Amino acid sequence: MGFKVAVVGATGNVGREILKTLAERRFPADDVIALASSRSVGREVSFGEDDVLKVEELDTYDFRGVDIVLSSPGAKVSAVFAPRATKAGAVVIDNTSCFRMEHDVPLVVPEVNPEAIGQYKRRGIIANPNCSTIQMVVALKPLHDLARIKRIVVSTYQSVSGAGHAAMDELFRQTRGIYVNDPIKPEQLTKQIAFNVIPHIDNFMDDGATKEEWKMAVETRKILDPDIAVTATCVRVPVFIGHAEAINVEFARPITEDRARTALRGAPGVIMVDHRTDEGYVTPAEVAGEDAVYVSRVRRDPSVPHGLNLWVVADNLRKGAALNAVQIAEILAAEHLGGKPGARRRLEPVQAK
Ligand SMILES: NC(=O)c1ccc[n+]([C@@H]2O[C@H](COP(=O)([O-])OP(=O)(O)OC[C@H]3O[C@@H](n4cnc5c(N)ncnc54)[C@H](OP(=O)(O)O)[C@@H]3O)[C@@H](O)[C@H]2O)c1
Repeated sequence: MGFKVAVVGATGNVGREILKTLAERRFPADDVIALASSRSVGREVSFGEDDVLKVEELDTYDFRGVDIVLSSPGAKVSAVFAPRATKAGAVVIDNTSCFRMEHDVPLVVPEVNPEAIGQYKRRGIIANPNCSTIQMVVALKPLHDLARIKRIVVSTYQSVSGAGHAAMDELFRQTRGIYVNDPIKPEQLTKQIAFNVIPHIDNFMDDGATKEEWKMAVETRKILDPDIAVTATCVRVPVFIGHAEAINVEFARPITEDRARTALRGAPGVIMVDHRTDEGYVTPAEVAGEDAVYVSRVRRDPSVPHGLNLWVVADNLRKGAALNAVQIAEILAAEHLGGKPGARRRLEPVQAK
């Protein structure tokens, strides 16, 4: 007997990767339900090598009997469906930005703060962080343990898959169109993305930062340490899958390149590829479909007393979304739902902060 699992947003970039990851990792599910909007009802989505699932409509779906929901339908949709699912007894692991910063919802990266998963009992919801935040905190956790991070300055190079499957189509269309002189018409992204880069992801905020940049700061503090200062510049680049980040870190205590490399080599979820030769670093085109967070170009920053620079690359749909969510579901199932269905959660009273 396994769990009953529903995947909400099953036709999207993240939802399809969640189905693939559940099948590959043999998640103990007896029944997997694919849910999306009314536009997709009856469509088929792959589940593993051999199975297909028929998409059902989220709006009319009855969640009674569902143990775990893995969701990525956009924040506005999650705000409406998640309370309905938790009321019916399911635990929702949500990939959208809807609940991430709510004080009674844990925000979890299993390599960094797996203990926070237990807090799901307050609302029945666990939030999956933003893709750019996940890969950064996986790489920085072992360094923080070693020398205590004071400040992070990060610039991202984010692939178009992070903006959904329609943005991937836009990059493909524009790239082809440029060779035949078709007019460029940005639809999903704000400017031409083919042969260009765009320093604008999500909406602008009052202080001039974008919401993506704000998310990297507040999410990192919630997951890793509330005392870390973070400033980010987030940029969309013409890459289909895989986000890269140039990260500058200032530490409170001394740290050498060698000690950092040793810590990163043994760290969960991290693969170091760092040779000062032509192929001695990792690029986004090499990581599509990979689980690990790759760290390259570790080097001292001589402009501050204790500083390092690093280059961090990961598949944003995989570790940046689906894999992280499935890892959370695995821990939830094994450690909190008794490894079997029927061991359903009890909602505990919400503690005011
Ligand atoms: N892509 C990433 O790297 C990444 C990483 C972390 C988090 N996220 C977050 O995950 C969410 C989805 O991202 P994505 O890249 O998968 O987007 P996507 O490819 O555009 O897919 C969106 C999914 O949501 C469904 N959906 C949209 N409106 C719906 C509605 N009213 N009711 C039910 N289902 C609805 C769509 O179903 P239809 O096909 O029926 O429209 C589709 O399955 C976003 O909130 C995003 O910020 C994405």
